[in-house]
Amino acid sequence: MKTNWWKKATIYQIYPRSFQDTNADGIGDIKGIIQRLDYLALLGIEAIWLSPVYQSPNEDNGYDISDYEAIGSEYGTMEDMDNLIAEAQKRNIKIIMDLVVNHTSSEHPWFQSALQNPASEYHDFYIWRKGNESEKPNELQSNFGGSAWTFVPTLGEYYFHLHAKEQPDLNWENPVMRQEIYRMMNYWIEKGVGGFRLDVIDLIGKEPDQLITKNGPKLHELLQEMNRNTFGDYDLVTVGETWGATPEIAQLYSDESREELSMVFQFEHINLDKQTGKRKWDIKKLDPKELHQVFSKWQTELAGKGWNSLFWNNHDLPRIISRWGDDEKYRVISGKMLAIYLYFLQGTPYIYQGEEIGMINYPIQTIDEVDDIESRRMYDERINSGYTEEEIIASINAKGRDNARHPMQWDNSEQAGFTKGLPWLPVGNSNEINVEAALNDPNSLFYTYQKLIQLRKEMPIIIEGTFENIPTNDATVLAYIREYQGERVLVVVNFSDLPAHFALGKTRVIKETLIHNYEKEITDELLAYEAYAVSLK
Ligand code: GLC
Ligand code: CA
Repeated sequence: MKTNWWKKATIYQIYPRSFQDTNADGIGDIKGIIQRLDYLALLGIEAIWLSPVYQSPNEDNGYDISDYEAIGSEYGTMEDMDNLIAEAQKRNIKIIMDLVVNHTSSEHPWFQSALQNPASEYHDFYIWRKGNESEKPNELQSNFGGSAWTFVPTLGEYYFHLHAKEQPDLNWENPVMRQEIYRMMNYWIEKGVGGFRLDVIDLIGKEPDQLITKNGPKLHELLQEMNRNTFGDYDLVTVGETWGATPEIAQLYSDESREELSMVFQFEHINLDKQTGKRKWDIKKLDPKELHQVFSKWQTELAGKGWNSLFWNNHDLPRIISRWGDDEKYRVISGKMLAIYLYFLQGTPYIYQGEEIGMINYPIQTIDEVDDIESRRMYDERINSGYTEEEIIASINAKGRDNARHPMQWDNSEQAGFTKGLPWLPVGNSNEINVEAALNDPNSLFYTYQKLIQLRKEMPIIIEGTFENIPTNDATVLAYIREYQGERVLVVVNFSDLPAHFALGKTRVIKETLIHNYEKEITDELLAYEAYAVSLK
């Protein structure tokens, strides 16, 4: 296994719209990120995954790019961006760009040219099928609901889009288009970025005529070509968003000898509370043992053959404490349990802004309070198919993407220190939950994250060690052991608000407590959400 910087590093995701506003327009900006770099350095992270800051009409908050080499005016200027890269570098923090190349915005000049002139070379940058208004090329659906095909009457053609119709899919069959994308990536590499997060990258090998969207036959060939033409010769981190990945598929991406990506985001552990394989909106109670099984499988099957990413949260997911912890009485304790469980696994951890202070979901009462395009589309679809308003709002409160997108809570002032104006989405419960309070409290979740990040830098066992699942009697108790060069680390967590039991037994004698979320001695009795990691004799 190669020793790359990103195997020891923890990466922090910033959703720029909601991080820090500096000009009172209610929208976070790049200058705001620069202001907060010292805070991030204190946390100990070594890279920032920056959600899109490119020019965009913001149909999907920046995941619809109209110019890959310009900064959206609400976020600042290219000069600000250059400053951010330089200021971050001074603090040993790299900037990872969000690369959205499955699709562009419909306002991108390529698509505009394709629309206006079918003879233009840009027409073939997108995916078109001849047809008529009444008959779609096939039944493929967009991830945001409705058909994946939109008809353009002036051309007599449909174009393909796996997200909103304002996000037309690029045609990865076209080598000229691919070279344009590689050129653009090299533009960012030359600016000194630390890598890329590749948005819905498992879709680029699609074969729409065969109804194949994910994991298409040419996907890996395309990624190898991208690697050769762009980041392959640099020590950059690349992480692909791959919703349907299994460990076998993740190996294809992240096996070092295949020269594709550093790692992927897989979602098997995140999808566990769906009732069926398809719909993210249906909710089931979490079974901790099932969760542990999924993690164990990924740890075992990627060991030595690929690399894991480790995460609970991102800008598309509800807040983890609200979802699987307790966002009231045990907010901090359960947040620490979730972090301790994750941070001793093999892989690269990703923190989503606010996770380190235990930010929680933001419940709404009516659909008018919703910004997110995905939730709004689902609402329309489900209202039309007979769901009650109440059911739909309950789903949005549990799973909606806005939950993670409310402004970062910096202090307990009026708009939580996020803005001096009116925030684009309202501020949540910042009286109790904010950075200032967390920094002033030595027992806060922030210091647990800081400690875990530090331990990962110091302890090769966390990076290199083998993984062993430890069976437990109680349904809510999860345990594992990492082992490396004769050293062993045991991690035990109680995924429940009820007490539970874990017998250390004779063979597991504690040498040193690395971290523990209660200030008490470790015994065989576990309190609500108790969690610890210890090295063993
Ligand atoms: C990814 C992004 C999500 C976006 C979608 C379309 O899943 O994380 O926010 O809506 O791709 O680009
Ligand atoms: Ca602003």
